[in-house]
Amino acid sequence: MPVPNRAHLVAGVLATACIATFFLSTILVEALASREAVSYLKSLIVTPGLWILVPAIAIAGGSGFFLARSRSGRLVDAKKKRMPFIAANGVLVLLPCAIVLDRWAAASFDTMFYAVQAIELLAGATNLTLMGLNIRDGLRMSGRLRLAPRSTLRAR
Ligand code: HEM
Repeated sequence: MPVPNRAHLVAGVLATACIATFFLSTILVEALASREAVSYLKSLIVTPGLWILVPAIAIAGGSGFFLARSRSGRLVDAKKKRMPFIAANGVLVLLPCAIVLDRWAAASFDTMFYAVQAIELLAGATNLTLMGLNIRDGLRMSGRLRLAPRSTLRAR
């Protein structure tokens, strides 16, 4: 596999896996574990979490636009349109939320903490959906994912 394709695949899947891990671990720890555990998780999400997530999203986006230079069509257009939302959501919402929650978790858990936590979970779910759709369309473009045509489904 050529380097840009490999970089795109690895970075795209890694970035999505990071957000899924942060999301699930946050819900599990908030629901089941102690405040100390929540506080520890919040610090792990910042370091090493964000240090993996932010470059992975940047590499996925950059290599994606590089791979898209010579391609056109519905799938690539949809991926291009989703990327600004993924990036803005990551940099303008997830990143500041993770940093603020890490700081606040060390001090106290008040209403503001849970309000920001809710915003972070919402932004995480949004990005998971958009990135999942980008993975699906990417796998379709690379030929790894082949769905049965609608006509075949109807005939069954
Ligand atoms: C975080 C966002 C993204 C994720 C998670 C993602 C994920 C993926 C995945 C998993 C593949 C399949 C790779 C393979 O099977 O080898 C792929 C392929 C592809 N992606 Fe993305 N992608 C993202 C953003 C973008 C963007 C912004 C573009 C630009 C339009 C793009 C363009 C492409 C192209 C052209 C392919 C097909 C490459 C080929 O033919 O091998 N991707 N993507």
